[in-house]
Amino acid sequence: MAGHKKRGSGTKRGSPAGKRRAGARPALAAQETVSVAVDVNGVSVALDVPADERLLDTLRYRLGLTGTKEGCGEGECGACTVYVDGVPVNACLVPTYQVRGAAVRTIESVDSGELQPFLAHGATQCGACTPGVIMTACWVRDHPELLERHSIRELMAGNLCRCTGYDGIAEGLATALSPGTPSP
Ligand code: FES
Ligand code: FES
Repeated sequence: MAGHKKRGSGTKRGSPAGKRRAGARPALAAQETVSVAVDVNGVSVALDVPADERLLDTLRYRLGLTGTKEGCGEGECGACTVYVDGVPVNACLVPTYQVRGAAVRTIESVDSGELQPFLAHGATQCGACTPGVIMTACWVRDHPELLERHSIRELMAGNLCRCTGYDGIAEGLATALSPGTPSP
């Protein structure tokens, strides 16, 4: 999710939701290869990866989970949002070795029905931001207490979209939330 996140250096920038930082692990030399056992979308995976490999690349190019997108590659746009142990992070900023033993969830784990409120409100055009938007939106929906302190637009601030103007995203999330949600 945008603005709430991260594990190690991957903590999401931008939105108030993304403030948690997981415990740091010691840095490794980039040329080292690291064995990583991780749960990805409920499947146990064992990999040997370079110490400097990004979680985003492991997901996309080793595991074929191409739903997670790369936008900026710098932790600014939220297109690469995944959950690590239930916390949204920017996968472009997280070294894969830092998720050893963790549970990673990607957009592929999300039921397609979650998309409907967003499609209904025109929240997606080119779609580049959409996986990250949906991951963040689902996290906000599952943590309604956040709406006591932040607006929907604030909570989604870590997910940038160059196409929609954000109205459809905010309206889609409002619809996904229970009736009585504050207007976006
Ligand atoms: S924040 Fe990761 S690609 Fe933009
Ligand atoms: S729909 Fe194109 S970047 Fe958001």
